Amino acid sequence: MSPEKVTIPELAKMKKRGEKITLLTAYDYPMARLVDRAGIDMILVGDSLAMTVLGHESTLPVTMDEMISHARAVTRAVERTFVVGDMPYLSYQVSDEEAIRNAGRFMQEALTDAVKVEGGEQMLDRIRAIIRAGIPVMGHLGLTPQSLSLLGGYRVQGKTARAAKRLLDEAKMLEDAGVFCIVLECVPSEVGKLVTDSVTIPTLGVGAGPHCDGQILVMHDMLGLFEFFAPKFAKRYVDLAETVTEAFQEFRRDVKEDRFPGPEHCYTMKQEERERLSADLPPKTARVKTDP
Ligand code: KIV
Repeated sequence: MSPEKVTIPELAKMKKRGEKITLLTAYDYPMARLVDRAGIDMILVGDSLAMTVLGHESTLPVTMDEMISHARAVTRAVERTFVVGDMPYLSYQVSDEEAIRNAGRFMQEALTDAVKVEGGEQMLDRIRAIIRAGIPVMGHLGLTPQSLSLLGGYRVQGKTARAAKRLLDEAKMLEDAGVFCIVLECVPSEVGKLVTDSVTIPTLGVGAGPHCDGQILVMHDMLGLFEFFAPKFAKRYVDLAETVTEAFQEFRRDVKEDRFPGPEHCYTMKQEERERLSADLPPKTARVKTDP
């Protein structure tokens, strides 16, 4: 019997009973399977894909088609985990129609359970339009990487009393607009707590302190696979870059020094077929032998 799928009502209940929610990003089938197997509650197919997997310098270049392709691989892999597709840059900013169509593509083509939209007050109409189309929306406040240039780079948001109050107001606006949860990225812990205590929907923090209803990590940060910069909040659980490089080096040595493939990695012919082949070969051709 397959485990029970995480749902929006279940996430709401988790907040009520004080059970922390876990979210990891994932972008492909094998990793999504492992996330699901590990009992993580939610997967975000984040537009961080642009940087972690596709090698871009920011999240802006990733396209809707690329996001759909990766989201399809993820949803194929999971049984229990709730999957959110991250609306990439320019997939929702231009008009309600485009926003609904693109959010609908995540639901129809990739079979995600919801979509994520960055932004507060200025995005309320879009968010309402998507929700009116029957598509659940996860909000995203604080550091919103699609507005990186406007924000002046990767900076902690909501550091002044005024900015914190603004963030709180926007969280309440998102809640009123109908989002089912809110990502808080890169804000002081005080702001994480204030927002979490002030809204009834779950908050999911990524660099927003311990008081949020759940915690997010970008998979490549936590596995040590993203080597270009490490945000303070990104706890590294394993250094896979080192482990994987060692494996690649060992393979290289094995091949160069004739240790791979060994007999256990090779296919062989039956004795009689070998003999038949040898008999069929012209006289000067080497006899067919089995490797030791
Ligand atoms: O794209 C992403 O990975 C994100 C998370 C950091 C929330 O938006």
